[in-house]
Amino acid sequence: MSHGRMHRKEDARFIRGRGNYTDDVRLPGMLYGAILRSPYAHARIVSVDASAAEAHPKVRAVIIGQTLAGLGLAWMPTLSRDTQAVLATDKVRFQGQEVAFVVAEDAYSARDALELIDVEYEPLDAVIDARKALDPDAPVIRDDLEGRTDNHVFDWEAGDGERADALFAQAEVTVAQDMLYPRVHPAPLETCGAVADFDKVTGKLTVWCPTQAPHAHRTLYAMVAGLPEHKIRVISPDIGGGFGGKVGIYPGYVCAIVGSIVTGRPVKWMEDRSENLMSTSFARDYHMRGEIAATRDGRIRAIRVKVLADHGAFNGTAQPTKFPAGFFHVFSGSYDIEAAHCAVTGVYTNKAPGGVAYACSFRITEAVYLVERMVDVLAAELGMDPAELRLRNLIRPEQFPYRSPTGWEYDSGDYPRALRLAMDLAGYDKLRAEQADRRARGELMGIGVSFFTEAVGAGPRKHMDILGLGMADGAELRVHPTGKAVLRVSCQTQGQGHETTFAQIVGQELGIPADDVEVVHGDTDQTPFGLGTYGSRSTPVSGAAAAIVSRKVRERARIVAAAMLEASPDDLEWADGRWAVVGDPATGRSMAEIALAAHSDLELPEGVEGHLDAVTVYNPPNLTYPFGAYICVVDVDPGTGQVKVRRFVAVDDCGVRINPMIVEGQIHGGLADGIGMALMQVMAFDEDGNHLGASFMDYLLPTAMECPSWELGETVTPSPTHPIGAKGVGESATVGSPAAVVNAVVDALAPYGVRHADMPLTPANVWRVINGNPFRT
Ligand code: CDP
Repeated sequence: MSHGRMHRKEDARFIRGRGNYTDDVRLPGMLYGAILRSPYAHARIVSVDASAAEAHPKVRAVIIGQTLAGLGLAWMPTLSRDTQAVLATDKVRFQGQEVAFVVAEDAYSARDALELIDVEYEPLDAVIDARKALDPDAPVIRDDLEGRTDNHVFDWEAGDGERADALFAQAEVTVAQDMLYPRVHPAPLETCGAVADFDKVTGKLTVWCPTQAPHAHRTLYAMVAGLPEHKIRVISPDIGGGFGGKVGIYPGYVCAIVGSIVTGRPVKWMEDRSENLMSTSFARDYHMRGEIAATRDGRIRAIRVKVLADHGAFNGTAQPTKFPAGFFHVFSGSYDIEAAHCAVTGVYTNKAPGGVAYACSFRITEAVYLVERMVDVLAAELGMDPAELRLRNLIRPEQFPYRSPTGWEYDSGDYPRALRLAMDLAGYDKLRAEQADRRARGELMGIGVSFFTEAVGAGPRKHMDILGLGMADGAELRVHPTGKAVLRVSCQTQGQGHETTFAQIVGQELGIPADDVEVVHGDTDQTPFGLGTYGSRSTPVSGAAAAIVSRKVRERARIVAAAMLEASPDDLEWADGRWAVVGDPATGRSMAEIALAAHSDLELPEGVEGHLDAVTVYNPPNLTYPFGAYICVVDVDPGTGQVKVRRFVAVDDCGVRINPMIVEGQIHGGLADGIGMALMQVMAFDEDGNHLGASFMDYLLPTAMECPSWELGETVTPSPTHPIGAKGVGESATVGSPAAVVNAVVDALAPYGVRHADMPLTPANVWRVINGNPFRT
């Protein structure tokens, strides 16, 4: 009844400019903070003299590393059980690192006063190329860690190396390819910031900030700062895009809190665009080497991968704690492969920390890109059509639930159907014929195919936690006497439309209009505990919680309806959104009628409480596994190297779609993101560690100009473990699309003998590839 193409409820305020973001928060007596950042990528701090800044007439406090060290707050734990400097005390370890925090009467004076702080640095050699981080003579970045003599962070392995090696030893064909998934940035429209208000009288701390995980932030503040958890309130108001970059706690948030405690007044800190790009969490930065062993007729038998992961100066990766390389396990992709093995080594470099799941479920984007590029490399080696090669190796529908060679259980799917649909929509055979004609004329047209499987909806809590907090999420539902409902959830939308879709879930389950359901989120005082929104986990986890809590309310309503009808609850059936006596629809009672009765003097059976509400905590039994087949068509200008994406066909399967319009919007955004990463985005550094992309002049985001008119298709394979059969979708397109674009460009460049080219495929990079290779028809 309520699932369907409903317009987004939240747009009523957004399109009127009435959103309420962190920077819109204004409190009486509020002060403003600004951060002094390091100009060096690696330098020892000799001295910090803040006296001139303190003397500025509008400055109320200057906080430096040593101030925090006195409070035991100079370092904070990261989400990966490392430590990160809040304000540097000993050394700076990346350009843009936080060194001092000024609190002033207005934002301009705070910025002005930064200029008055005198920091003496002794520059050190920087480690910028991850491939040199483990050299014996590389400077040790984390000499703050006791006994540390190198830049090694972790080693992680998955799969069966011996079995894979054995298959490689007897393989008819093997291919190998080095590739880089470059460092990119989530670059949300709204930068990060916080308003902290510590009330000295009540001891209550309120923090507004655009966090994707308000409850986790509150618990961590309590654990680290020793403040009582019930005296902390984290409010995450409207968020202008998160994409994984707003999961962690940034030094600026801590500084705003300390600033408020020190001054006794509320303190607002908002970073600017350059600060956001230079210092908040990056994504990817995986140097990968993939290998495939196959038969000559195109049967993939084994895959091996080696990864060097650049984690920056502090290991601040946001992902379930036991998974240092996230969910990279899905590197065997959507294919039925006998053996797979992968080894990841993480290293420190003098770059910003992070490694967030930028619109992806914890490193799945890197994994999908790797396997999808490798399959194309194999297709080139075998001289086979890449779509045909995929069809030959995709997991077959009857193999679900499918146990992957790294031990994950893919829940459901019909992969060949999705790929065939994409090929039909694209007119694949005709495209290949057109390509042959154009190639004969010296024109560069490319067709790129990719297939992806995502794994979204972390936990279950038994296997997945963030710093010991199990990944399960609560929901509370209350139906008021007039039949209007309030759903409280722990996750937090950053633009994905939860206020609409979660209301639709409740509406569908209770037989009331979605407009009659208010969704409350983003405020720890108002919502049940849960781990929040990232890795497309909202619908798989909180969406499931919303359905289950609604069903609990519906069962309570059944008892109330039975009392109203003087019947036994067992004699009632739920039909057309009403409880009615079996076979007698005229007796049907709507949720509004039942709600009023539940709040009235109606006599209820012994032990049944009045009113109509319920709570639940949903611990997902498994991840959900959305998938899709993408086909991209590009034209490359041989003279300039410019790539034009002519067409993009995307067939997605995210199980049951709650709101198809929102799903399509999510896919559109993700596809644009994918084009951005494939063709223009990279966080580049010079050899001294100077950041070369600290503004949108240099760090390029895709616009409508670079995007074709998307051609979408869908298949629906419900998730067997989700109460309404839904799988997550928020990140599918970002995960699946970069490989399709790169495969298309490499396909276009095939006449030059090109097998691979690293992202971003900017005109300059493509031009270099073209000019480094002879054209062969
Ligand atoms: O966690 P996040 O919200 O980023 O991702 P998601 O759970 O995949 O949901 C993105 C948006 O698409 C939400 O508004 C979902 O409720 C909606 N959605 C849907 O309508 N049907 C699905 N099967 C999956 C998501």
